[in-house]
Amino acid sequence: MSDEGPSPLLPEPTPLQRHQRYDAWSPSLSIARLNAIHQETPFLVCDLDTIGRRYEELTGLLPGLAVFFAMKSNSAAPILRTIRSLGGSFEIASVAELRMAEAAGAAAADLLYSNPVKPPAHIAAAAAAGLTRFAFDSEAELRKLAEHAPGASVYARLRVADDTSLFPLSQKFGASVEAAGDLLLLARDLGLVPYGLTFHVGSQCTNAMAWERAVEQCAVVMRRLMRAGVRLEMLNLGGGLPARYTTPVPGVSLIAAVIGAALDRLPYRPPVLAAEPGRYLVAESGVLAATVIGIDDRRGDRWVYLDVGGYNGMMEAVQTGGRWHFPLLTSRPDHYRAASGTATVTGPSCDSSDTLFYGAALPTTLGLGDRVYIGTAGAYTSSYASSFNGFPPPTLLYVGAGPARLLPLPGGHRSDRSVAVAV
Ligand SMILES: Cc1ncc(COP(=O)(O)O)c(C=O)c1O
Repeated sequence: MSDEGPSPLLPEPTPLQRHQRYDAWSPSLSIARLNAIHQETPFLVCDLDTIGRRYEELTGLLPGLAVFFAMKSNSAAPILRTIRSLGGSFEIASVAELRMAEAAGAAAADLLYSNPVKPPAHIAAAAAAGLTRFAFDSEAELRKLAEHAPGASVYARLRVADDTSLFPLSQKFGASVEAAGDLLLLARDLGLVPYGLTFHVGSQCTNAMAWERAVEQCAVVMRRLMRAGVRLEMLNLGGGLPARYTTPVPGVSLIAAVIGAALDRLPYRPPVLAAEPGRYLVAESGVLAATVIGIDDRRGDRWVYLDVGGYNGMMEAVQTGGRWHFPLLTSRPDHYRAASGTATVTGPSCDSSDTLFYGAALPTTLGLGDRVYIGTAGAYTSSYASSFNGFPPPTLLYVGAGPARLLPLPGGHRSDRSVAVAV
């Protein structure tokens, strides 16, 4: 998720605060239910109903919002079909994502291609498929779009403050307010349609005011364009809505209220109000199950080795240097009774940067063969997973009704290694 490493604002919970927050844990994925899943680990089980609840909460708070799920966060087919069945569409980053979105029933014309810098061949293939809306943040990208997707609708990505997010993005992407206005006017001269504005406050953004500031920057560009006779069709709020891990985050109702008030101060309301939530929709739906494959005492520190690590599912733990914590449960029958001790939790590969958590609180009774359940693991896990060192990505499982008619048959294996389970 990150292009710049973790934010300096990374919270530093005390060991006892860590892993103690289970308010985001789906009741459908209790320890007993997880223990009953007889599937080799690692597996990632997602509760499709959680996704439905998150989707409805967001669209209820911002009426008229068009949701374009950032499929990079979890592009598994049952997740995409669930979001499609709820009325959502997708934000894509590449032609491969376009094809997955189409396979989930979305028309190319309904997608947003929001990666600001795209390979020319991907632009041409997307345009040929009928996709018409593309992000950009530079003159070079605009010229590329004019050549490979003539007549396309383009939206400028603004560079906004992202210092209150865990994964900032604005070093790599975004045009200044001044440049965005000029570029949207240049788009018109190049035969493109100056369609809208977008921004990204950074992923896992924990300050509602970041959206307010960003919408205010959009207002400045909109006023400038109005003077040049251009009215925009779309304001796209991007991603960044936070999920609950182990430290408190603002609720989406607070963020939506701040956004709503900022929208009221715009010079006009573009007809399309869009957002590209990724983490917010899927993170809390998932639990990643791993097995303890080794335990050792190293220089007075308890090291717990799991069959899942940074490379086969927990890349964001690596990106944050093992300092960002996910809620943890275990398969131990005495999980809630046993004394808790701190541990360094690491992955199965021969690489030490594979380590997930330093100072994690786990039962002192945890032993070889026990499972560790990592909560809030539905986003940026399976989509990042590789088979480095020969350790496989998690098998994908689903619970919840979701769009029931679209689910694979119970127990039936799918080509994307997902299995429907009833627990
Ligand atoms: C263009 C774009 N939109 C949306 C997202 C989703 O962000 P998040 O998962 O923080 O909601 C991303 C993530 O990198 C992105 O690059």
